[in-house]
Amino acid sequence: MLKRVAETNRSSYDALLERYNQLTATAGASANNVSVVDVAEVPSEPTSPSFPKNIAIALLLGMGTAAAFVFLKDHFDDTIRSPLDVEGKLGVPMLGLIPHVGSDAEGAALDQVRTDPKLPISEAYVSLVTNLTYATADGIPSSIAITSSQASEGKSTTANAIAIDLARLGRRVLLIDADMRRPTLHRIKKIKLQSGLSDVLSGNTQLADVVQQDGEEAGLSFVLAGPRPPEASILLGSGRLNALIQEARGLAEVVIVDCPPMLGLSDTASIAAHVEAVLMVVDSSQGHRGAVKSALRRLSLVNARIIGAVLTKFDPKAANSKYGYYGYNYYSYGQDEA
Ligand SMILES: Nc1ncnc2c1ncn2[C@@H]1O[C@H](COP(=O)(O)OP(=O)(O)OP(=O)(O)O)[C@@H](O)[C@H]1O
Ligand SMILES: [Mg+2]
Repeated sequence: MLKRVAETNRSSYDALLERYNQLTATAGASANNVSVVDVAEVPSEPTSPSFPKNIAIALLLGMGTAAAFVFLKDHFDDTIRSPLDVEGKLGVPMLGLIPHVGSDAEGAALDQVRTDPKLPISEAYVSLVTNLTYATADGIPSSIAITSSQASEGKSTTANAIAIDLARLGRRVLLIDADMRRPTLHRIKKIKLQSGLSDVLSGNTQLADVVQQDGEEAGLSFVLAGPRPPEASILLGSGRLNALIQEARGLAEVVIVDCPPMLGLSDTASIAAHVEAVLMVVDSSQGHRGAVKSALRRLSLVNARIIGAVLTKFDPKAANSKYGYYGYNYYSYGQDEA
């Protein structure tokens, strides 16, 4: 009996001892795993948002967006409104800046040039002629074709104004209306459309027979476009054109050829290949940079010498206020003194 009690007590003791050892081991292990690495401190300022970092990100994003906006605006801006656009967007020298006369009446611009040399538009054309005179080492080119990419940009006005100013400077000038599709010179001279360039090119008459002396300017003579031919481009593409221009150069010091617009026509390219220089007229009120560039490219294909561009119908308010000074106002400088 006593022996059984002793065995029961021993086994209880063993179980308790084993349990005690287990607990001691677990308690010892957890005490070794945890230690204080650093004492936690309460921060003095918030970790987020970071003001300098946000300012830097905002600046970068702002500048990137502004640069993209400026690039896209410039890329899709099709206008050539200022002298800087002519040189920057077209890459040709800017030879003249002709102000808009304010009246859209047919021929109003040229009437101003003819009647009053003190008007801003007259001064502007004199300035263009001066620039043309110094545009080459040999002075003014002896034959100049005047064209534009599209219709009604001011070619005929410019051709006539240059011819008048050169004649007033004492040069012998021959003005040829080579726009046989839409002739204007007879209307400007207030005469009916008689024989002219188309007759000479088709071999019906001689150049000397169609040259007329201008009634107003002593040194100025002109050749009308003549009756409208069925195929103007074929006539201009014929071998006679080169001989005609050479002959014209014998009749005057400077030959001015008023051409049709480039558009999709080959007329002007044919003429440009045989003259000494081509002057590109660009209407500043139209958005047509692509058309002007393609016209310039087509002229280069025939090895034409593009002497420069003249910006017509210029409105300083539409371009940029800074052009007010040397644009329009420049030409009216001293007007109030008279
Ligand atoms: N500086 C100017 N300011 C205002 N109007 C102008 C100016 N220059 C020309 N014009 C006007 O623009 C119109 C077209 O001019 P012009 O006949 O000289 O152009 P064009 O290029 O010869 O035209 P086309 O392609 O028909 O031959 C005319 O009514 C003219 O009076
Ligand atoms: Mg014309």
